[in-house]
Amino acid sequence: MIDFQSPEFHSDPYPALAELRAAGKPVWHEETGMYLAARHADANAVLRDKSLGRIFQPRTPKDEWFDFNWLHADSILDSEPPKHTRLKSLISKAFNPVTIRALRPDIERLSGELLDRAAELGEFDLIADVAEPLPVKVIAHLLGFPGSDEHLLRPWSQAIVKMYEVAPTEQHKADARAAARDFAEYVHGLMVERKTNPGTDLISTLAAVEEGGERLNAHELIATCVLLLNAGHEASVNGFGNGAVAALSRPVTVQPLRDDPRGVGPSAVEEFLRFDSPLQLFERTATAETEIGGVRIAEGQKIAALLGSANRDETVFDRATEMDLTRERNPHIGFGAGIHFCIGAPLARLEMNVVLPAVFERFPHLELAREPQRRPGFVLRGFESVPVTA
Ligand code: HEM
Repeated sequence: MIDFQSPEFHSDPYPALAELRAAGKPVWHEETGMYLAARHADANAVLRDKSLGRIFQPRTPKDEWFDFNWLHADSILDSEPPKHTRLKSLISKAFNPVTIRALRPDIERLSGELLDRAAELGEFDLIADVAEPLPVKVIAHLLGFPGSDEHLLRPWSQAIVKMYEVAPTEQHKADARAAARDFAEYVHGLMVERKTNPGTDLISTLAAVEEGGERLNAHELIATCVLLLNAGHEASVNGFGNGAVAALSRPVTVQPLRDDPRGVGPSAVEEFLRFDSPLQLFERTATAETEIGGVRIAEGQKIAALLGSANRDETVFDRATEMDLTRERNPHIGFGAGIHFCIGAPLARLEMNVVLPAVFERFPHLELAREPQRRPGFVLRGFESVPVTA
């Protein structure tokens, strides 16, 4: 059975996930007390089943987890209808596709500046110098998060997302609680300021948005902004890093991207997200008895959708274990499915479609300089650093 803590599993989870899929149905995992849905059809069904919800722990104001918990419970990601529907309609308005498309020139300029700096360095870190600053700057700009404090975002987000791993340590828990408190306090300050002094940014827009006369309450606004700031970069950084390492480690595979960066870019982006997905596991809890892949899930029972495994399902993808940057049919579920499908998918796709071709146009001979450093963990899968030579 899968050992979610094992360094071997972290370094390459795919053989163990393939064994799990071979069971042909969701499998009970005793250690974590939940079913694991590893096949594409089962993981997809978990994300779409209306009896399976994201249910966050109840909160009590005196609890040391109070800030961490409301920061999640009041965000769109951890809400279910009807609250989810209300939050989604509020965010969709503020986060509309026209705003996203209009960001392309800014993203191109930003990506150009980062690559100029990287070119001067000769050897650089694909994560710290390119993959991280791009989405951090874009989401900070979109929300109106002060540029001078952008450096706070990744550490806060990193501390918070450690809690999403299967068994966080006591230190991780303490760091996550502190980051949640500081982050919430900071965003609360911004919100108060934007209410009196609105700008054209998303925090100002969200603070002013009305849906049927109903505004977002303070906790919902803060929780949603924090979620957008975190979700708006964490998976994008890792999705780019994971895909780049896989591609650069395979000289034949990466060649089409070197030969035609713009032509191959869009299919390469989707293959990056399929082949080594940055978000691997999402849990749900049954609010009523249901059935997934022939297995009965009782009320209160947990089941996890394994996205990276689903994206390697050999019954859905031709040559599923091979990376193919020109893959035409690619129904991966790296952005999820159902009502929680990623709101930021158009933004993440736009960023990656700008930066990936730009990297290979600028550095056609880009190579890994050394063994890249993987971060421990499974749920959020990514690299600490990816040293490359131009
Ligand atoms: C490559 C980058 C990204 C990946 C792989 C990704 C993946 C996902 C996945 C799998 C979910 C569904 C979680 C679930 O079902 O429990 C999700 C939800 C979400 N994502 Fe993303 N995401 C990415 C980028 C972004 C960006 C750039 C933003 C924001 C600007 C964003 C904002 C959100 C939000 C707000 C939700 C919650 C939607 C809801 O609950 O209705 N994501 N994302």
